[in-house]
Amino acid sequence: MAIHIINHPMVQHKLTILRKKETSTREFRELLKEIGMLMGYDVTRDFPLQDVEIETPVCKTTAKQIAGRKVVVVPILRAGLGMVDGLMMLIPSARMGHIGMYRDETTHEPVFYYYKMPKGRERMVILTDPMLATGGSACDAVRRLKEDGYKNIRMMCLVAAPEGVKRLQTEHPDVDIYTASLDQCLNEDAYIVPGLGDCGDRIFGTK
Ligand code: PRP
Ligand code: URA
Repeated sequence: MAIHIINHPMVQHKLTILRKKETSTREFRELLKEIGMLMGYDVTRDFPLQDVEIETPVCKTTAKQIAGRKVVVVPILRAGLGMVDGLMMLIPSARMGHIGMYRDETTHEPVFYYYKMPKGRERMVILTDPMLATGGSACDAVRRLKEDGYKNIRMMCLVAAPEGVKRLQTEHPDVDIYTASLDQCLNEDAYIVPGLGDCGDRIFGTK
């Protein structure tokens, strides 16, 4: 089990703008997309390469290419969608699945409503959800993916609470977590502190 904190200056800078309450919906969406691509560099950092013989306009040479790792990007709806466009720019050959769930406002437990995956259970899953709060949504999503036959799953979030990290690492120790920040704690409404508020509402302007 591992948690990777992505502290690249550009990611941290963009995250700070996302946290500001005055950031507009339009800017929020754009920045989250950019961060999705930047974080994708770290999520894919250990992908194996293989040598290929190619010919440049100048000469023949040996160059590197990704050694056939197949990926499926899976956003947890809704907010996970915000990171997908950037990630798909980085991995254009990836397939996409969708898992729909929202948190019950009183119990804070995830309520499941949708699951659709492409063919190929051997693919690596990159699960995206900007907020890892109690960890309930991520744990439920990972459980469903495993029950469906997926074995290689990575969790990409933006902001994580210690409570969510602990729960995901306890229930699914094989799932590596990639995040731009490990925040302080959860508040009484199970929102991440300092966090950035309700990420879905901020992406889609539904506040
Ligand atoms: C948010 C967020 C995660 C979940 C995190 O979704 O996008 O899916 O809460 O909380 P947890 O770790 O405590 O489960 P939300 O319920 O707001 O739904 P939405 O994305 O559709 O707005
Ligand atoms: N979901 C959000 O959108 N934000 C939080 O801080 C926690 C859960």
